[in-house]
Amino acid sequence: LPHQPPAPGISSVIRKKLMGYVGFANLPNQVHRKSVRKGFQFTAMVVGESGLGKSTLVNTLFDTPLYPPKEPLPPHAERPSTVAIESISADIEENGVRLRLTVVDTPGFGDFVNNEESWKPIVESIESRFDSYLEQENRVNRSKIVDNRVHACLYFLQPTGHALKPIDIEFMRRLHTKVNLIPIIAKADTLTDEEVTDFKARILADIAYHNIHIFQAPTYENEDEEAITEVEEITSKIPFAVVGSTNIVHTPDGREVRGRSYPWGVIEVDNEDHCDFVKLRQMLIRTYMEELREYTNDVLYENWRTEKLLSMGVAQDSSVFKEINPAQRMQEERVLHEAKLAKMEAEMKMVFQQKVQEKEAKLKQSEEELYARHREMKEALEKQRIDLDEKKRKLESGRPLTPETGKGASRKARGFLR
Ligand code: GTP
Repeated sequence: LPHQPPAPGISSVIRKKLMGYVGFANLPNQVHRKSVRKGFQFTAMVVGESGLGKSTLVNTLFDTPLYPPKEPLPPHAERPSTVAIESISADIEENGVRLRLTVVDTPGFGDFVNNEESWKPIVESIESRFDSYLEQENRVNRSKIVDNRVHACLYFLQPTGHALKPIDIEFMRRLHTKVNLIPIIAKADTLTDEEVTDFKARILADIAYHNIHIFQAPTYENEDEEAITEVEEITSKIPFAVVGSTNIVHTPDGREVRGRSYPWGVIEVDNEDHCDFVKLRQMLIRTYMEELREYTNDVLYENWRTEKLLSMGVAQDSSVFKEINPAQRMQEERVLHEAKLAKMEAEMKMVFQQKVQEKEAKLKQSEEELYARHREMKEALEKQRIDLDEKKRKLESGRPLTPETGKGASRKARGFLR
């Protein structure tokens, strides 16, 4: 090939074979050692109606009783009326590799009579985690950034066998640009194989129709056949039809497996012929955990950050290799700081107004109480006065009192009455 001059601004790259061992082939090992020393961190969110087996599946995935056994609510217990956001963290270790796992639960989702805005607290939680990360990134000292962004959201679909429900579509539409969505058919052992296949097809059709982006195992150029097959196998199982259980049961052929035992047989969690649990674990933990973290940081967070800064009037540089411009960074920091101050001020104003309103309401209430007491006392006195008048009238109609000595007269009157 004729030698092509490099494009202006781009220096040409020469390919060279080394004559001896230099040592940078050891780079992957260095990265590996450093990562192992630092440990890993992963945050997963679980969303779905109550009782779909979310906690059981998380315990099954990480083979750890992350969620303690739950006490059922007494029949008349007051139930919360909004979706809550609750986190559980655990440090788990496998072959010397440490993982700080955080599971964000969303109790209450889809459990109310009106579930129209069930997605809202969840979006707010995801965005506030982005906010917190952005704020830390903009600090002068960025050595200790705490990353609590959500890396994956397991969305549990009821095993209805029909299609997506409006609440599912609304949730996924609101969330798909902010988090890696992984849809799951919960309690798949309640559906037959045929029902699972049909249900999956309808779910995928709905997802495509509504232009919802769900997380897909990535494919790269020049990848070997094994990796391509793995991706295809995982992709073919989406949405994963899973069964969760940490219980060890005995199969008819005498094996001990994690599963669920029924009068007609045993469903094995880790058996790929029985459900898609293994493929889900592969996607979430064994093969693509790092991809999920990377996609969250490089695409989802980056898009959100760009939009946020643009909406604040901060121009984003377009070059791929961003040069750190101190003036621009300071400006970004100042804008963020001002926005934060304005937010704090607005919050303080709101709290103040609320306090004033509460005080006023209290004062009004005690004023009304005082009036009521005054009225009661007045009425009691009036009643007393009427009673006394009545007595007086009776006494006077019996025998008139002497005008000079009321005392003597009353004694006389008592004698008279006796
Ligand atoms: P909340 O905490 O109320 O939101 O419930 P959850 O979604 O965490 O459900 P949980 O894991 O507590 O499971 C609810 C019930 O479903 C329990 O009795 C589980 O044993 C059962 N269960 C969990 N996973 C499965 C499953 O895959 N198949 C079947 N058939 N039952 C399951």
